[in-house]
Amino acid sequence: MSGGQPYYLTTPIYYVNDQPHIGHAYTTVATDALARFMRLDGRRVMFLTGTDEHGQKVDKSARAAGLDTQTFCDRVSQNFREVTQLMNISNDQFIRTTEPRHIKASQAIWRAIAAHKSPKGRDNIYLGKYAGWYAVRDEAFYGEEELTTDAAGKKHAPSGAEVEWLEEPSYFFRLSDWQDWLLDYYERHPDFIGPEGRRTEVVSFVCQEKRVKAPDGTETVIKGPLTDLSISRTSFSWGVPVPGDPKHVMYVWLDALTNYLTAIGYPDTESEDFRSFWPADLHMVGKDIIRFHCVYWPAFLAAAGLAVPKRVFGHGWWTVEGQKMSKTLANTVAPKLLVGEFGADAVRYFMLRELPFGSDGDFSRHALIGRINSDLAHGLGNFAQRVLSMIQLYCDAKVPLPGEFAATDVRLLGSARSLLSKLRIAFSEQAFHKATETIWAVLSDADLYITEHAPWEMHQAGSDRLPTVLYTLAEVTRHLATLVQPVLPAAAADLLDQLGQGRDSRDFVALAAHPLSPGTKLPPPHAIFPALELSSFSRELQAKARALAQQRARHILEALYGKTVTIDTAMYREEISRLWRMCGGKINGGGGISDDPKSRLKKGKAERNVWDAAKGEAQQRAQNAIKALLQEECAEDITTYKDEVERLWRICGGKPDKRQSQDVTIRAPPERIFDALTNPKRRTQWWGKPDYQGAQMESDLRADGRWVQSGEWRNGKSFQVAGVYRTVDRAHLLAFSWRSCTDKSGLESLVQFDLKEENGNTTVRVTQSGPEGTLLPERRWEEVLASLRKYVEGPTAS
Ligand code: MSP
Repeated sequence: MSGGQPYYLTTPIYYVNDQPHIGHAYTTVATDALARFMRLDGRRVMFLTGTDEHGQKVDKSARAAGLDTQTFCDRVSQNFREVTQLMNISNDQFIRTTEPRHIKASQAIWRAIAAHKSPKGRDNIYLGKYAGWYAVRDEAFYGEEELTTDAAGKKHAPSGAEVEWLEEPSYFFRLSDWQDWLLDYYERHPDFIGPEGRRTEVVSFVCQEKRVKAPDGTETVIKGPLTDLSISRTSFSWGVPVPGDPKHVMYVWLDALTNYLTAIGYPDTESEDFRSFWPADLHMVGKDIIRFHCVYWPAFLAAAGLAVPKRVFGHGWWTVEGQKMSKTLANTVAPKLLVGEFGADAVRYFMLRELPFGSDGDFSRHALIGRINSDLAHGLGNFAQRVLSMIQLYCDAKVPLPGEFAATDVRLLGSARSLLSKLRIAFSEQAFHKATETIWAVLSDADLYITEHAPWEMHQAGSDRLPTVLYTLAEVTRHLATLVQPVLPAAAADLLDQLGQGRDSRDFVALAAHPLSPGTKLPPPHAIFPALELSSFSRELQAKARALAQQRARHILEALYGKTVTIDTAMYREEISRLWRMCGGKINGGGGISDDPKSRLKKGKAERNVWDAAKGEAQQRAQNAIKALLQEECAEDITTYKDEVERLWRICGGKPDKRQSQDVTIRAPPERIFDALTNPKRRTQWWGKPDYQGAQMESDLRADGRWVQSGEWRNGKSFQVAGVYRTVDRAHLLAFSWRSCTDKSGLESLVQFDLKEENGNTTVRVTQSGPEGTLLPERRWEEVLASLRKYVEGPTAS
């Protein structure tokens, strides 16, 4: 542990009823990044994690596993400990609530609470009888008004956990007397709960806000008293015995929360650790356990005469491939498998970069691989290897001696040097996504700097700027590697080794104090992140998608038409079109079936009833199919789905895509032809069919070669065309897809113009492909091309 101002941070302690999954790893990884950041920034850090081993839930799981409870706890706790090693977690302690030191601390806090009076001068703890609802899965008590009843008459907590009725003698904590104190505490400590939304949630719980409807329908919010909290159980014994009344065991949350004190020596409040580290700087928790940490915990602490932690942050939850992680769905993702496949750094990076920290998000392999390749392998890894390889080749494998820095060097170095202060803000707000984004923004500046300076050309030209440019790049790499250590500890260490940066020159002080020393010999560089074989992955994905699509298509047909209705492919075509529209970017915004085909089914009432019954289900299946295919909430690039729709189209008997092409040779340079094609004003001059005349168009050819056009046809329908324009070795390619205005299905066809220049002539090949009904007839294309030729060859074009 380094010197400096103390910083104490904790993860929740994990229940040992479950095997570790990525949800648990997420909390720990985020806390670890912060702990590492603080250490590098000179703080004396105490970072605590561990396992929560008491309570009814654990006891039940041990029985179900046929094991003695302690043996069961020992086993599962060990699995959590292994995950900390696997994920490269730098915790200073791993606590278990079955340890004797913790039993001692829990009993001590009970006594301290009992010894003090509540703010209203009453005993904080009293004996009574609990009669109410309890959810073993959450280890939480719920009021009747919080529950919902399912079709089978079973009652559920807001978390979805089933509740059971409980009646037993119990000690109570007089939480009701702490209501005003808590509200006042939140008011005076605006940073106590993060992010902001969770704070509102907590305050509204403590106010016990309820909406009441008056007979005239108006709603008012009334506030109620907080109810006292049951803090002991008598119907089982797996817990910490209540001091002086061992028939009771302490409520598992009171015992569990106390772990944060145990680890720093409580009840010895005079110990070195306790004096240094209490109150804790941060409890990192998931959003589901915010009530325990922001309501019960501060009240327990204040009642025991202890200070309250400075901050609690409630992060969001991960779903997996669009679904809640659960044992029943068997979709939990084990950190071990992920780390085995991708490495700890990549998984850590993905977790901290992919979601705004605090929000919920979805975990998918597809997204993970995408991130690894774009940000790590092709991003940081590629950049560093380019810089280091150029130093090897052009500077005799030694850190070059820079000359005078030019304005561009100073600018890039300046943005790298200003990173630390930005990261301090992001880390203090637990905005890990912002921290990584900020670092990667400098990386992209640095990439641009390489492109602009082209050091390989400088080398060829013997430019004396080369050592300064490469020194600038090496210094920027050192900054990036140093600052990325909290997130990518192993890769950053590897990179700093490759930069010849000593082990004692890697903290944030070293950023300014230990610049790279010219002349230092550097080892031959190697890649820090290998790029992942996307192709084999996508093959696998495609095979999976195809099997799924076939199965879903069959289901949809069955659901739509039942066994008695003969399958009519024309009708099915509607379904495909709808699927397509649903994915055309609209599914996220509600994506329902808007186009009711009932009116078009000129069939009997019986069929219409079949349709009605099946429609809802079909909709659901279609959405699931899309989600499953894309492995995501349809936020995917539309082109991925396009293949799928076409496949579905064919599987279901739709006609295969048509493809047709026409060639025409025109005596004009490609630039002129291109202009005539993309400039909306010129286009209306040669296209010349009534439908297209008078179309209002906005057209924009962007610097990156993307071309977008949108407008309105004369019949009032809007259209969109999107395309790309590229020049490859004097051959020009313009490809665009459009939505046909004549076919309401919204199916897209792709039109591609290849322009090849030879002996002053340009051959234009127009190829169009897409589902039947979306293509322009061949004859029409011939007319169009002839008109284009006439136009660009004639005098009006210039
Ligand atoms: N034992 C209690 C905590 C006591 S702290 C004094 C507990 N344990 S837990 O194992 O159920 O959950 C521990 C942490 O894992 C929580 O922060 C929870 O939010 C987090 N996660 C569990 N599943 C998760 C996801 N699917 N996604 C993100 N985090 C999730 O609660």
